[in-house]
Amino acid sequence: MKLLITAGPTREPLDPVRFLSNRSSGKMGYALAHAFAEAGHQVLLISGPSSQPIPGGVDLLPVETAEDMYQAVASWIGRMDIAVFAAAVADFTPVEVFSQKIKKSAERMTLELVRTKDILGSARAVFGFQGYLVGFAAETENLEENARGKLRKKGCDLVVANDVSKAGLGFDSERNEVILVFPDRIEPLPAAEKVLLADRIAEIVLECVAER
Ligand code: CTP
Repeated sequence: MKLLITAGPTREPLDPVRFLSNRSSGKMGYALAHAFAEAGHQVLLISGPSSQPIPGGVDLLPVETAEDMYQAVASWIGRMDIAVFAAAVADFTPVEVFSQKIKKSAERMTLELVRTKDILGSARAVFGFQGYLVGFAAETENLEENARGKLRKKGCDLVVANDVSKAGLGFDSERNEVILVFPDRIEPLPAAEKVLLADRIAEIVLECVAER
C-alpha cells in the first residue's frame, strides 16, 4: 500500500533570522512512518524541520512552511491509499516576511498573522482524496467531542486524539496517550512510548483498510 504521512512542526519565517514554530518533535509521525514501512508498505514522509532520524525504507520530502507542506501534499496525495496527518502545522503565518532583520526600534511591536491553509481539511474537499484518511487532534479540553467534530468536518476515517495538557505526554515527549475516534466507536489506547503506540495505530489502520 502507498502512504503519505505529514510530521513535525512547520516554520513560518518572520525575517531572515526568525521564525514562528511550535514544540512538535516529529516523533509520532516518524514512528508511524517506521511502523508502516516495517509492515512492508511504501511511505512518503512529508516533514517540517525535525531532528528525528529518517526511518529506513521511507522516502523523506522535507518542507519548511505550512504553505510548502500544503503544496507537497497537493502534489502527492492523489497516488496514495492512506494519508496520515500527524504534523503540527502552524495555523497562522506572518502577513509580512521582512527582507531585513527586524530592528528593536520601539518598546512594543505587533505582529499581524494570517490563517494558513488547512491541509487535512483540504484532503477530501480540495484534493478529492478517496483513500483512508487519518487526522490528529491536539486538545486541552473536551477531547472526544472536539476530535469527533474534526472527524466529521474534515471527512476523516479516524482521528487520533491526544490531550496536550497532560504533563510528560504528547508534544516533545517520548510518551503519549491517545483515544482513537472512529465514526461509530472510540478505542482508548493506554499511555505508552510513542514507538509502541505508532506500531499499534499502524496495525489498527491496516486492519480497517483491509476491512473496507
Ligand atoms: N492540520 C493541517 N493543516 C493545518 C492545521 C492542522 O493539516 N493548517 C492537521 C494536523 O496535522 C492534524 C489536524 O489538522 O492532523 C488537527 O490539528 P489541530 O491543531 O488539533 O486542529 P485544528 O484543525 O488546527 O483546529 P483547532 O486549532 O481549532 O483545534
